[in-house]
Amino acid sequence: MLTQEELKQKVARAALDYVLPLLAPDVVIGIGTGSTANLFIDGLAAHKHLFKGAVSSSERSSARLTALGIHVFDLNQIDRVPVYIDGADEIDAGLNMIKGGGGALTREKIVASVADRFVCIVDESKLVPCLGKFPLPIEVIPMAIAEVSRRVARFGGTAALRQGFTTDNGCQILDVSGLRIESPAELEAQINNIAGVVTCGLFAIAGADVALLSTQQGVQTLY
Ligand code: 5RP
Repeated sequence: MLTQEELKQKVARAALDYVLPLLAPDVVIGIGTGSTANLFIDGLAAHKHLFKGAVSSSERSSARLTALGIHVFDLNQIDRVPVYIDGADEIDAGLNMIKGGGGALTREKIVASVADRFVCIVDESKLVPCLGKFPLPIEVIPMAIAEVSRRVARFGGTAALRQGFTTDNGCQILDVSGLRIESPAELEAQINNIAGVVTCGLFAIAGADVALLSTQQGVQTLY
């Protein structure tokens, strides 16, 4: 029986195999945030001579990439990102996701939106029939915390301020529990439309293009 850590290592390796044929001297790849993305970064470092560099979804990932000798570009310097590799907190069979457990959801959504392909790398514990058991993170401008909390209560959720945490963008995170998300793209649009919300951690209007799912039986590819 493989542990969750071993499943993450296997999917990070599968992501590397997925990306290696895409690497070329002019290629910049998109890198996400979290423990699974970290394992991918560590594996990618051995191939740093094959590509130009990376754009990253967090200061943490940028620091890790830089420490391993992979050049990190400002996204404004880059006009093409062939692939974005990142984990998720939950994913369903339609490749809709909840992300932002690490608080990097906004930059993750920005880098993913630039990339030609979002490849989500997860262990099997993240695959769910319906999103919402994992509390939905929402990045909020600090002065709007109370009002956004009241608004999300109308969707049936209870918002809790993530204590002692400030995002890379100087904002705060509300973690919303108690949601059963039957229509993820619709809810994503509704929450993102609340004044003061930077973005919510639903990735459904644009979900993953591919998911690499690490199971006890091996890594499966979902489209
Ligand atoms: C960070 C994220 C991560 O992708 C998500 O939290 C999964 O993390 P991990 O790979 O550590 O389980 O969205 O904001």
